[in-house]
Amino acid sequence: MGEPMNLRRLRQSEIVRGLVSDVQVDAKKLMQPLFCVEALKEKQAIPGLTDVYRDTEETILRQIESDLEAGVKSFLLFGVPAHRSKQDFHSDFTARAISQIKKRFGADLLLAVDVCLCSYTEHGQCGVLNPEGDHVENATTVSELAKFAVSYAQAGADCVAPSDMMDGRVRAIRNGLAAARLEKTLLMSYAVKFHSSFYGPFRVAADSAPKGKVLLKDRATYQIDFRNSKDAVRSALRDQEEGADILMVKPGLPYLDVLSTLSRDIHLPWAVYEVSGEYAAIELLAREGLANGPRAHVESWTAFVRSGAQIVITYGARNAKEWLKNG
Ligand code: PBG
Repeated sequence: MGEPMNLRRLRQSEIVRGLVSDVQVDAKKLMQPLFCVEALKEKQAIPGLTDVYRDTEETILRQIESDLEAGVKSFLLFGVPAHRSKQDFHSDFTARAISQIKKRFGADLLLAVDVCLCSYTEHGQCGVLNPEGDHVENATTVSELAKFAVSYAQAGADCVAPSDMMDGRVRAIRNGLAAARLEKTLLMSYAVKFHSSFYGPFRVAADSAPKGKVLLKDRATYQIDFRNSKDAVRSALRDQEEGADILMVKPGLPYLDVLSTLSRDIHLPWAVYEVSGEYAAIELLAREGLANGPRAHVESWTAFVRSGAQIVITYGARNAKEWLKNG
């Protein structure tokens, strides 16, 4: 019997711990979501998401200015139009917001824009419903999405990010961008997006919860079932094959295993979305005095990086510099 193995020697002080650590979260790897809401009088807080707002076309510019000062470089924009319909959607509002942001800040930031129809449809589904109202039509939806993505890119988006989960949308968007000679536009696919209970605060922010008198009540027929790990692999391979530049796993913490396996096997940059519900869960713990919020956030972000993410989309990006200061 030898001496007990001394593992505590390398844990003895913050300097030693910092020196021997092998995972580091870097603020420039974080992407900040933004919500721009048409016809809103003044910016509104979002339940559960501290320091995150539904912005007006004016307040969003001030918000970005202060985020840039805080060191944020990348943003993910969600446009929320005032008018909703069943079909014939118009991307004008979001395109206008994009061009205003790019006109003001140009190459100082990277602007990714979410591409989905859930804030545009009357029923809140991510695409066009069939006349019976029980099925999202794939082909019709994909052609709308491609049209939207091209109009966002033409307005100046550096990256388009389809989150709808229709089949074939990555290829359609890639082809649409090519036809419009938008060869620099990045395509970040929400390739591995699960049908999750953690999207609650977001659906309030983007007014995108499924609603109304239609038969289809949830997104289970297009988002990935969390009991199906093989579907996650197929979805990622498919979107790689269709021409995505960046792939994403969403949500984050409950799917670290998926992120870890896929990022080892598929050699594209991987993003992870720390979604609204998981972010809000930490905020609630902190509010109840049951956790140190900033430390818990940094712990989660570190888990994402350790599991293979190059990009972390988080509502806390604007606080990262501050929170990352202490180790
Ligand atoms: C839209 C979309 C959703 C999120 C991002 N894009 C919600 C959903 O699919 O219902 C969730 C983000 C979050 O919860 O922070 N399709």
